[in-house]
Amino acid sequence: MAKKSFLTDVRTLRKRAREHIEQGAVTKGYRAKRETVLKLLNDALATEIVCVLRYKRHFFMASGIHAQSVAQEFLQHANEEQTHADQLAQRIVQLGGAPNLSPEGMLSRSHSEYVEGDGLVDMIREDLVAERVAIDSYREMIDYLGTNDSTTRRMLEGILAMEEEHAEDLATLLAELDK
Ligand SMILES: [Fe+2]
Ligand SMILES: [Fe+2]
Repeated sequence: MAKKSFLTDVRTLRKRAREHIEQGAVTKGYRAKRETVLKLLNDALATEIVCVLRYKRHFFMASGIHAQSVAQEFLQHANEEQTHADQLAQRIVQLGGAPNLSPEGMLSRSHSEYVEGDGLVDMIREDLVAERVAIDSYREMIDYLGTNDSTTRRMLEGILAMEEEHAEDLATLLAELDK
């Protein structure tokens, strides 16, 4: 008895690739639920935008004796959250969706909150809370995707790693200011 290959034979692969070429990167072999993934990515996009706005607000409002270095940290995080937003939007398009950048409902789509914060310590604490929200929501998305969309998963893993760095930075700042 001939062994059945675990790979699709070349002729079938070639034939399938010619079908629905307008779908670009999305092929018949895409195993995740595309609509669900697009919804998750758009919610994450809203989260990142809200984080950009919050960090920007904190950057401009930071004042006091420790303000300079903390403000620089806020600015760096704002820029990195913007990079995440761009990565998410790009992947949404690649999957045949459209990034939802409408300000309407942005905050309710976002996982994290927009808290202006009262003073430097309060701002850092609110940012840390938001990072911890982001960490858990990215982790859940990664678990959900499993092996069904490894490109999206890899991207989310990269973002998650950076949110963890952000949280660690903020926790360190908080501890230093507490002294
Ligand atoms: Fe981010
Ligand atoms: Fe972050």
